[in-house]
Amino acid sequence: MEQGLAQSRSILADAGNVAVLSGAGISAESGVPTYRGAGGIWEGFSAAELASAEGFARDPAKVWGWHNQRRMQLAAIKFNAGHKALADLEAQVVARGGTFTLATQNIDGLHQAAGSQNVLELHGTILAIRCSTCTDKRHIGFEPVDDEIPRCRECGAYMRPDIVWFGEQLPADVWEAAAKAAYECDVFMTIGTSAVVYPAAGLIEMAAGTGAKTIEVNLQRTAASGLVNISLQGKAGEILPQLVDLT
Ligand code: OAD
Repeated sequence: MEQGLAQSRSILADAGNVAVLSGAGISAESGVPTYRGAGGIWEGFSAAELASAEGFARDPAKVWGWHNQRRMQLAAIKFNAGHKALADLEAQVVARGGTFTLATQNIDGLHQAAGSQNVLELHGTILAIRCSTCTDKRHIGFEPVDDEIPRCRECGAYMRPDIVWFGEQLPADVWEAAAKAAYECDVFMTIGTSAVVYPAAGLIEMAAGTGAKTIEVNLQRTAASGLVNISLQGKAGEILPQLVDLT
């Protein structure tokens, strides 16, 4: 572990183009539950019922209410040292003329709250809503909203959370930017993700395939551990600050 930390630190100190994939684990120390495993969201709730277009069509009020409740829970949550270390790393890489892309599967907005600039929200955000039929979209942030489902101002259909649900495509422009970053980076980090949900997890394979140096930070081994050059096991909020010069 000590050797992996030192190696990762020196790789990041020299990195020109950095791409990162983050998942629920980076927000766990802020108090946001992860999706899989004991106590995970999908252990207590049904993804088919609450996170699919079919579920929304069947019972829109239930899906709306559940997301609304999650949004209100997230309103009280603060970013942690792991988010902050990534924002510091971005500032350093950009200051020396490199590029930094943070593709996150998280919908909680905590990377942006910590100061990250170039964030690609692969699975959307809970802080916006969009029309279930047309292209109308609205940022709602943490404003309390009615339990009554709002209607689209353009076409009158139900609004829904701006989140990519199971069986849905990722936003094409966001995915293309993430894939480009994975192909072009010289260092790729995968942090706090089980790496089982595609296409997001495919970014790790893309980066590894081009010969980028790959580093994983996770509490435990994952589907990606065999693929990466360095696998660091522990809490993201404790490991990431050790890899970066903090401001
Ligand atoms: P998962 O719940 O599948 O995985 C969370 C990962 O974080 C696990 O590998 C944990 O070991 C790790 N972990 C937990 N606490 C950690 C900590 N403090 N430091 C480091 N690692 C930690 O979450 P994701 O991989 O993000 O999609 O899940 C991917 C997608 O599946 C989500 O975006 C969501 C879900 O269904 C949608 O809702 C569309």
